[in-house]
Amino acid sequence: MPGGCSRSPAAGEGRLRLARLALVLLGWVSSSSPTSSASSSALSLVSAASTQPPLPGHCPPPCECSEAARTVKCVNRNLTVVPADLPPYVRNLFLTGNHLAVLPAGAFARRPPLAELAALNLSGSHLNEVRAGAFEHLASLRQLDLSHNPLVNLSPYAFSGSNASVSAPSPLVELMLNHILPPADKRQNRSFEGMVAAALRAGQALRGLRRLELASNDFLYLPRDVLAQLPGLRHLDLRNNSLVSLTYVSFRNLTYLESLHLEDNALKVLHNGTLAELQGLPHVSVFLDNNPWVCDCHMTDMVAWLKETEIVQGKSRLTCTFPEKMRDRVLLQLNSSDLDCDPILPPSLQTSYVFLGIVLALIGAIFLLVLYLNRKGIKKWMHNIRDACRDHMEGYHYRYEINADPRLTNLSSNSDV
Ligand SMILES: *[C@@H]1O[C@H](CO)[C@@H](O)[C@H](O)[C@H]1NC(C)=O
Ligand SMILES: *[C@@H]1O[C@H](CO)[C@@H](O)[C@H](O)[C@H]1NC(C)=O
Ligand SMILES: *[C@@H]1O[C@H](CO)[C@@H](O)[C@H](O)[C@H]1NC(C)=O
Ligand SMILES: *[C@@H]1O[C@H](CO)[C@@H](O)[C@H](O)[C@H]1NC(C)=O
Ligand SMILES: *[C@@H]1O[C@H](CO)[C@@H](O)[C@H](O)[C@H]1NC(C)=O
Ligand SMILES: *[C@@H]1O[C@H](CO)[C@@H](O)[C@H](O)[C@H]1NC(C)=O
Ligand SMILES: *[C@@H]1O[C@H](CO)[C@@H](O)[C@H](O)[C@H]1NC(C)=O
Ligand SMILES: *[C@@H]1O[C@H](CO)[C@@H](O)[C@H](O)[C@H]1NC(C)=O
Repeated sequence: MPGGCSRSPAAGEGRLRLARLALVLLGWVSSSSPTSSASSSALSLVSAASTQPPLPGHCPPPCECSEAARTVKCVNRNLTVVPADLPPYVRNLFLTGNHLAVLPAGAFARRPPLAELAALNLSGSHLNEVRAGAFEHLASLRQLDLSHNPLVNLSPYAFSGSNASVSAPSPLVELMLNHILPPADKRQNRSFEGMVAAALRAGQALRGLRRLELASNDFLYLPRDVLAQLPGLRHLDLRNNSLVSLTYVSFRNLTYLESLHLEDNALKVLHNGTLAELQGLPHVSVFLDNNPWVCDCHMTDMVAWLKETEIVQGKSRLTCTFPEKMRDRVLLQLNSSDLDCDPILPPSLQTSYVFLGIVLALIGAIFLLVLYLNRKGIKKWMHNIRDACRDHMEGYHYRYEINADPRLTNLSSNSDV
């Protein structure tokens, strides 16, 4: 169809021209927009609602605002998104008891930015996911409380920028992450401890952090480098976790540390390396109550250290939990003669092992005796087997020779012809 062929290029050209016009128009609109050069990445993240700056004295409907106190409270409102029109004067923002679920990148990026926002409380707001750069463009944010949210997905870049290569260090000074462990059925396969550690480490963004609360998270261990990028830490709260050992974590570089809370964990003993590191911190107080200390020979160094050190608060309250004979003995009152590792097994278990050994030995002896009594029968049986094998092998050998002999096979094929 020649007509159709000649028409379509013209129509395509027309569409192309239209598209070019649209592009030019778009370019003009975006270049005439006053803030496009400022931070296009932030703007692209913010919803259309934030393009209209809130009027002075405006308060988002579900919230209570006090301009005098520079405080906005949107508490227990079942909010599913962060209100877009937060007043720019806000210094303390309470978004507790909501249903936020996901905190996307730039969740608080506004035009103009919330430059005064210093304390942000998101406690108990059903957050499952905090994405990279969620707290971007909050230049004054000093205190952040994310406690009591089941954080299934905490981005490694949650506290740094969504673009790690250009993000500035976080202004955060206090970070509360208490009770952020998701329920077991929601947990991913990766380690929860590792996920939290990655966020605390990423891009060295939290170098200014002074207070870190990680209580009630059922931590089984501390990842080796979890504290490596937090050199300014003054207060570290690890209460009510399930820490069994501190052997692999280093406190050496936390020279400003003032308080270390390790109450209500599962610590069995502190080893020499840890004791030396803690002793080397100039300002620290350590809290060790309610741990199931195991008072055997491995406890000797810690008991000796406890008697000397001034840094353990309430050290006279620490008591043994295991072994049974040492239960509730005060650690400070133990002599090295009390701390032995023998017997390794509890006596009841030991006798049962001895009994098991005797039974096994008896069974072995009976077996040997049966063999000995039947030695003639066994000899006969073995001869029989050998003969049977020999007969079988000879038959096989014979058949193989016939098949392998080319003359015989030729003969048989010739006879067919
Ligand atoms: C929030 O939701 C709960 C139950 O889903 C309801 O009982 C409560 O009244 C809601 N609160 C508000 C402020 O809507
Ligand atoms: C955040 O709000 C919760 C609930 O009201 C409160 O228990 C917690 O202390 C607040 N966090 C801070 C840092 O004030
Ligand atoms: C991050 O920022 C750098 C420098 O501005 C830029 O080259 C890079 O493309 C950005 N990366 C992402 C993922 O946006
Ligand atoms: C966890 O791992 C198991 C097998 O190791 C797999 O069947 C399951 O799908 C994984 N779950 C998630 C959430 O990745
Ligand atoms: C200790 O942590 C568990 C979760 O790991 C929590 O259920 C419990 O309420 C916490 N206890 C205290 C006293 O905070
Ligand atoms: C401690 O700091 C020094 C120097 O800043 C560094 O070389 C070393 O790797 C750090 N050690 C740990 C365990 O973080
Ligand atoms: C622990 O340190 C003390 C004194 O520094 C030393 O006497 C002891 O042998 C050390 N223990 C171990 C197990 O290295
Ligand atoms: C520790 O040993 C010394 C002597 O070796 C003894 O006098 C003291 O009573 C012992 N203390 C305890 C609590 O057993």
